[in-house]
Amino acid sequence: MITTDYLVIGSGVAGLTFTVKIAERFSNKTVTIITKGDEDESNTKYAQGGVAVVLNKEEDSFQKHIRDTLIAGDGLCDEAVVEMVVNEGPKRFNELITWGANFDTNTAGKFDLGKEGGHSEYRVVHHKDITGYEIERALLQRIHQLKNTKLLPHHFSIDLITEHQVTSIEKKETRCYGAYVLDEKTGTIFTVRANNTILASGGIGKVYGHTTNPIIATGDGIAMAYRAKALIKDMEFVQFHPTVLYNKEGGSSFLISEAVRGFGAYLRDKKGHRFMLYYDTRAELASRDIVSQSIDKELKKSGDSCVFLDCTHLDIVAFQKHFPTIYQKCKSLGIDVTKDWIPVVPASHYLCGGIVVNKYGKTTIQNLFCCGEASRTGLHGANRLASNSLLEALVYAHNIFKFLSENNSIHLPIEIPKWNDEGILLNEEITVIENSLKELQILMRDYVGIVRSNTRLKIAKKKLDIIYNKVEKLYKTSKITTVLCELRNMVTIAYLIINQSLERKENKGGYFNIDNSAK
Ligand code: FAD
Ligand code: SIN
Repeated sequence: MITTDYLVIGSGVAGLTFTVKIAERFSNKTVTIITKGDEDESNTKYAQGGVAVVLNKEEDSFQKHIRDTLIAGDGLCDEAVVEMVVNEGPKRFNELITWGANFDTNTAGKFDLGKEGGHSEYRVVHHKDITGYEIERALLQRIHQLKNTKLLPHHFSIDLITEHQVTSIEKKETRCYGAYVLDEKTGTIFTVRANNTILASGGIGKVYGHTTNPIIATGDGIAMAYRAKALIKDMEFVQFHPTVLYNKEGGSSFLISEAVRGFGAYLRDKKGHRFMLYYDTRAELASRDIVSQSIDKELKKSGDSCVFLDCTHLDIVAFQKHFPTIYQKCKSLGIDVTKDWIPVVPASHYLCGGIVVNKYGKTTIQNLFCCGEASRTGLHGANRLASNSLLEALVYAHNIFKFLSENNSIHLPIEIPKWNDEGILLNEEITVIENSLKELQILMRDYVGIVRSNTRLKIAKKKLDIIYNKVEKLYKTSKITTVLCELRNMVTIAYLIINQSLERKENKGGYFNIDNSAK
């Protein structure tokens, strides 16, 4: 068993930012970060476009960023949260700089500001087209210098410890005491007992086979919190990114940043029509929900497999400087962006909903906090404005830090039972796990995609029940492994997305159901 003051689950921007702040402020307290996979593997690492922050006060203003966020969120944002996050932006961004993260500057020595869909001004700070990689690098470097922080890669959090396991105390309210953790290398399961637990476990992209997300994005934190009876909301608002490099096999796919459209690229159908002009006055720079739904319509109408991003009219020297990774990736596939159009399709990218938190990142479970993509703060409403996610993670990591700095909590010395794996057989069912995952991803693609219907959602629910029963049986009789737990968690996430979709009776932002009234 490990005992720690703060248990942080996840090593993306949210978890690392909280850790740097709390560990540097309280050198007498211990922080334990557990993260499955390599220490830097996260959605954060792949963020391209950048961080939306108001720096150029001559043309931009907090009011404009607030308005753009509210418009993108289609009436469902929490306005107080939007104001708070936008206003905090510059302070949190400056902290990143002091921690050693580098962002591109222009010839005048000012930060080079990019533009993305839904933004009325240039306000996206970036490090070429690998902004997330740079942020992750700087934060990890800082973490490695901290003496009171232990970072455990290849450790998987299976479940949160709450009153449900701790039988010795009265069940007045649910409290979190830490988590059960699997050491992925040895297969042993141990207890991490913590005064406060911070879930920073990221998104759910992998529930859909075709996604911009890396393999870690399996919604574990949300599923764990749901099992612990935390409030989960807005799961129907899965954001599909419009321009993901077309790949016949599906699977994890390379993103072509929205900043490329901000730089002037056009979307065309195979005949060359700039179809976005017919859908929105902002054309290619309409918000993501609108562009993805328009591409989906175009593809259904034409029967084509993809649309195209045309960069051939752009200043190629500047393009290469701003987007070296995208340029090289295309080149490696034989796509010369100076002459060829880039084939693109929408793919699952981001979850706007998640674990409900208040402005201090507190969940509905005592001593359990959440920040980053796993959380539902009210910032995004029905659709996230581009590059507001890294910003949200920075702001909420800070808010949790602030709250915990001012409110100390120590648990009573209670007995926490060890993980019980009595009667568990050896796991020889890897093919069942792989097949069930494929079934789940096909189900989500075919029945719970960009455009939904009540009939398809109800079919999805029935089909999911079958997968659920199979996976639960496996879980109860098999040795615990990461892939099995991830599958179980993804089934939970699918269940939440389907059920919350069926509950939504009005189309908003990224949610579109043909049986609901038009937007
Ligand atoms: P993550 O960075 O995903 O980190 C989650 C961590 O939790 C990982 O370390 C993971 O291993 C760990 N974890 C998960 N489950 C467990 C478990 N059971 N046990 C232990 N550890 C666990 N947003 C922007 O604002 N701007 C952008 O330009 C941008 N571009 C993007 C491009 C791509 C390709 C993608 C995929 C996303 C992009 N986003 C962007 C979204 C943004 O990157 C993410 O929303 C954000 O980085 C999430 O940070 P996070 O810390 O919450 O989660
Ligand atoms: C992108 O670069 O297009 C992704 C930006 C985001 O998800 O906010």
